[in-house]
Amino acid sequence: MAAEPLLRLDRLRKAYGALVVTDDVSLAVQAGELHAIIGPNGAGKTTLIHQISGLAAPDSGRILLDGEDITHVPMHQRVRRGLARSFQITSILPGFSALENVALAVQARLGSSFRFFGSAAAEEALNRPAMEHLATVGLSGRAHVPAGLLSHGEKRQLELAIALATEPKLLLLDEPLAGTGHEDAERVIATLHQLKRRYAMVLIEHDMDAVFALADRISVLVYGRVIATGTPEEVRANPDVRSAYLGEEAA
Ligand SMILES: Nc1ncnc2c1ncn2[C@@H]1O[C@H](COP(=O)(O)OP(=O)(O)OP(=O)(O)O)[C@@H](O)[C@H]1O
Ligand SMILES: [Mg+2]
Repeated sequence: MAAEPLLRLDRLRKAYGALVVTDDVSLAVQAGELHAIIGPNGAGKTTLIHQISGLAAPDSGRILLDGEDITHVPMHQRVRRGLARSFQITSILPGFSALENVALAVQARLGSSFRFFGSAAAEEALNRPAMEHLATVGLSGRAHVPAGLLSHGEKRQLELAIALATEPKLLLLDEPLAGTGHEDAERVIATLHQLKRRYAMVLIEHDMDAVFALADRISVLVYGRVIATGTPEEVRANPDVRSAYLGEEAA
């Protein structure tokens, strides 16, 4: 029997007025799986991520994390339970070094149990895991650079390191490659390869080369409906997907 998935969406539905943006979406993400969600502009991808993270409430349906119903659990508690959302540029403090940015996230995770920040021992206790997270995303060499001076792609790597400081089980990534030039996109793709298997990920991305190279499975969302879920090969070969979204360029 298949194990309980890490994340299960069960007939999730959300409408804005007459517009049904999430139309009975059911899908499962296994532990360690990189599950990409693709689909045309306005298909409802971001709205779906917002419901998983707790930023938007579904009208009906359920969200289960590790078998537990989190549909009505507030956002910060979802983070505690292992959901992390990345690519909120505003979470980076530009005047602080990359290391300090991650160390602050580690401190936030430790919360009130950690009252002695400032002493050398405490600083070490924050910096050690922070350096590990920077190494995981490939930013060790930039640890002491002010975050504001990092390139666009490096900032995205830093955001991932900050997300890792929450000790997530599942990363929710909404267009991590948006606005990156070729070199920065390569950096972020390399980082996602590093994170693969260690963390489950839900990845929304329009860069089809990246999606098909990275994903274990892909779900295709069109007008709020999942029209196909499968391996990259299955999705590429699916005639409905080709006519609705991928078109002939995927041939
Ligand atoms: N708060 C809101 N109020 C009303 N309509 C909304 C709201 N948020 C999103 N929508 C609408 O819901 C639909 C889906 O939007 P969403 O941002 O989820 O699409 P998307 O798949 O992420 O698109 P893109 O690829 O362009 O990022 C769109 O028609 C959008 O205008
Ligand atoms: Mg979007």
